[in-house]
Amino acid sequence: MARLKVGVLISGRGSNLQALIDACAAPDYPAAIVVVLSNRADALGIERARRAGLKATVIPHRDFAERHGFEVALDRALREAGAEFVCNAGFLRILTPWFVERWRDRQINIHPSLLPAFPGLHTHERALAAGVRFSGCTVHFVRPQMDEGPIIAQAAVPVLAGDDAETLAARILAAEHRLFPLALRLVAEGRAKVVGDRVMIAGGNAPTAAVLNPSA
Ligand code: GRF
Repeated sequence: MARLKVGVLISGRGSNLQALIDACAAPDYPAAIVVVLSNRADALGIERARRAGLKATVIPHRDFAERHGFEVALDRALREAGAEFVCNAGFLRILTPWFVERWRDRQINIHPSLLPAFPGLHTHERALAAGVRFSGCTVHFVRPQMDEGPIIAQAAVPVLAGDDAETLAARILAAEHRLFPLALRLVAEGRAKVVGDRVMIAGGNAPTAAVLNPSA
């Protein structure tokens, strides 16, 4: 089985990177991480990558006067490592259309809300303020507009009475760790394809029943 060669972009903790590392450890997983790139030297994810024996490189965005130079360096590092696909796993730099177009339909991002609700920062605070009964996470193909792009998969989690941003974030993060490897699998197996502005999934199982919150 030829595995899809993936580069992972991170900026911090790297718990989603860890979920991908763990998924890739399964012999039948259709993707393999060939490089991890961080724009921050203090990203905990760098440690996780090295512990897993992966090539991990820091490319500090501050070393470059312009965004374009930083992105050229990212792009070069990805190509030198043989990456065919890019996963943004908590990567906190905005990418310009130049980079996004170079990796069009070959780059995915995870965002901690049910997009298109609550793009951008402080998603959990905003979800709580809006009083939604469900939030969740989304894996989508990257487009020049931040947190926009064809949606591959979503996980919904209930918002519970008494939640604060921290408890909601933790519940969603646990779902992220399941969703990101699943979405990458669908893409790597060729089952998730961009058609127009949407993603068509071949042979996906979906829940059939509504989930109510509150349920009584
Ligand atoms: C996650 O919540 C992800 O959805 C968002 O940034 C956070 C990164 O967490 N884009 P980690 O670095 O993967 O632990």
